[in-house]
Amino acid sequence: MPIAPEEIRPLLAGYPASPVVATVGSHSAIDIADGAVAEGLANLVLAEAGREATYERYFRTLRSKDGTRRRGCVDEVWTYPKFADLAAPAQQERLRARGAVLVPNRAFSSYVPLDVVEGSFRVPIVGSRLLLRIEERSERENYYTLLERAGIRAPRRIPGPEAIDRLAIVKLPHAKRPLERGFFTASSPAEFRRKSEKLLEQGTISPTDLAGARIEEYALGPVFNFNFFFSPLVPRGEGLELLGVDERRESDLDGLVRLPADQQLDLPEAARIPQYTVVGHGTLTVRESILEEVFRLGERFVDAARAARPPGILGPFTLQTCLDRDGRPTVFDVAARIGGGTNVHLALGHPYGNALWRGPMSTGRRIALEIRRASAEGRLAEIVT
Ligand SMILES: Nc1ncnc2c1ncn2[C@@H]1O[C@H](COP(=O)(O)OP(=O)(O)O)[C@@H](O)[C@H]1O
Ligand SMILES: [Mg+2]
Repeated sequence: MPIAPEEIRPLLAGYPASPVVATVGSHSAIDIADGAVAEGLANLVLAEAGREATYERYFRTLRSKDGTRRRGCVDEVWTYPKFADLAAPAQQERLRARGAVLVPNRAFSSYVPLDVVEGSFRVPIVGSRLLLRIEERSERENYYTLLERAGIRAPRRIPGPEAIDRLAIVKLPHAKRPLERGFFTASSPAEFRRKSEKLLEQGTISPTDLAGARIEEYALGPVFNFNFFFSPLVPRGEGLELLGVDERRESDLDGLVRLPADQQLDLPEAARIPQYTVVGHGTLTVRESILEEVFRLGERFVDAARAARPPGILGPFTLQTCLDRDGRPTVFDVAARIGGGTNVHLALGHPYGNALWRGPMSTGRRIALEIRRASAEGRLAEIVT
């Protein structure tokens, strides 16, 4: 049984007037810490031993003798042998005693089992803990079912390898690195067989994952990840904000496309099947006439998420899209939390967020602003689950 928000909200009673903004040290933690500092809130990064230096050393807050911040933005770091240890009952107690609210990122939802997040992690989470699971493609109810209910265009599902009659992408996890992808493309059943055999042979994918893979139409067009924010603290008509847009650099895909065609063709066949490991991000804006459709998608998603899993979206979410030649977005992935590409706007803010808020507004800062406002108005309970 998932923990009901009614069970979490009373925990806030013992909290200080301004909670401490906690997050897991990977993915988007710097943006979250930086945003907290910008809004005058203390922050705490939960790190894993061996992966803590970025936070503990390089971005750590250093203060002058009089206490003013001299450098850095990560105020406090707690290090665990494994990320998942942060959810142990004694550690939950420690987080509550510190007055921490946890901002969930992909590192949190990947490394702490979702059953624990939903069923036994009794620390207030800023956002919906129940929506994190929609990212899992193996779930019966996932982001595809939500998009369908919202009437948002998503790539058409292809029922099986034999039905591949156009360019398709096959989505399954990497066999050895479970957080990475073992994606490949195919235009026919024969190409599916040829490539999947190669990848099985290399050990990149496993037969079980292949059998359960999602096969879908390949949406041709550049990728735009729309980073939205939804506030339940204001009237519904003002709730949706578009903060910014990012794209990613994927290895080996981006490496391959930087090679001239004849060099690509000279590669051994296995090396011609690119992997889609995200290694970085860039920032984008979108043609202005497309914006209205982008907002329509955001509004529909907010409504559908609220209807499917109340209280729905509370805070940041990302719709990952390809834009076709008519500028129409197809949503191929969704994150009901802070996106992975928001560091591109760190401190400088997002182009659209800045235009809206008349100053630097990154996703991390927007989250902290929401926490600060909700605290000041005694409404923190409305943005946590
Ligand atoms: N239907 C699709 N059409 C075209 N490209 C896609 C499609 N689905 C995924 N991709 C490509 O694969 C990348 C990763 O896909 P995504 O669904 O976001 O996987 P993950 O859940 O692992 O983040 C995207 O950034 C995009 O480049
Ligand atoms: Mg994605």
